[in-house]
Amino acid sequence: MQVQAKVASQRQLAEDTFCLRVTAPEVARIIQPGQFLMIRPEGGFDPILGRPFALYDVIPGETPEQDAFEFVYHVVGKMTHLMSEWTGGEEVEVWGPLGNGFPTPSGKHLLCVGGGIGYTPFPAVIRAALGLKPFGESPWKTTTERVTFCYAAQTASKLADLEGVESLENVSVQLATDDGSRGHHGLVTDLLAKALEQSGDDRPDEVFCCGPERMMQAVARLCEQHQVNCWLSLETPMACGFGACFSCVTKVKTCDGWDYRRTCVEGPIFSAAELELSEV
Ligand code: FES
Repeated sequence: MQVQAKVASQRQLAEDTFCLRVTAPEVARIIQPGQFLMIRPEGGFDPILGRPFALYDVIPGETPEQDAFEFVYHVVGKMTHLMSEWTGGEEVEVWGPLGNGFPTPSGKHLLCVGGGIGYTPFPAVIRAALGLKPFGESPWKTTTERVTFCYAAQTASKLADLEGVESLENVSVQLATDDGSRGHHGLVTDLLAKALEQSGDDRPDEVFCCGPERMMQAVARLCEQHQVNCWLSLETPMACGFGACFSCVTKVKTCDGWDYRRTCVEGPIFSAAELELSEV
C-alpha cells in the first residue's frame, strides 16, 4: 500500500547511522521481520524514486492511530543526508510492506549474521523468533529457544547500539571489527565457522544473513559445507520496489538451468541453496 505518513522522531545509533520512526499504523500493523519499505519526502520530484529500507522495529502508539515503524540507515548520499536532518513532523510517502520477509525459523537454535547496515532486520527477527514480540497479523509460532547473533562492522564506532538485544535471555551476541577495535579482530565468517563446528545444542539449526555481497557469499558457502539451511536477505539496488521495472533481478537455479527473480517481490529473502552463488 502507499500511505502519507509523518516522521515521529529520530535517534543516532552509531557513527553516520540513524534510526527513523514513522507514524504509519496501516503499515506498522502488518509488516513482518525481513520485509522492507520504500520511502521518500512528500511532494516534489527530488528524489523522484523512493529508497528501500528494511524494517527495524514496530512501536505501538498510545492509540492505534499512532502505531509506528522504525528503520535504520547509513548516511551515504543526498537522500540520507536530507533524512539525517529530520527531527519530526516531516511528511513522507511510504510504500509497504514490500517483499517476502524471513521464513518462520525452524529448529531450536537460530544464528543470525549481520554485516554493516545489514544488521538492521535482526533485532526484530530475534525478538520474533524467541516469541518476545509479535509482528504483523500472523506472528511467528516458532520452536526457537536460543539465538546467536554475529554482528560485524569496520570499526567500533560503526557498531550500532543494539538497544537491549544483547541482554535478552537466550541471546548471545558476538561482535567482530575489521580493525580489532571491538570484539573479534577479523571477519564475521570466522565467528560463523566456529559456531558451525560446534555439536549438539551449540550447533545452529539455521542461519539468517544480511550484509555485503561478498560476506553473504562466504556465509552461504560455509553453511553449504556444514549442511545448515541458510537464508540471505539481498540488498540489490531497486527502483520501483513493487515488481514493475526489473532493475533488481537476481539469478536463481531452476530445473533446467537458471532464471531471474525480482528481489523486491520474490525476495529480498532467498534460500542460499536456490541462488546462483556468483550472483549473490
Ligand atoms: Fe522494480 Fe524490483 S525494483 S522490479
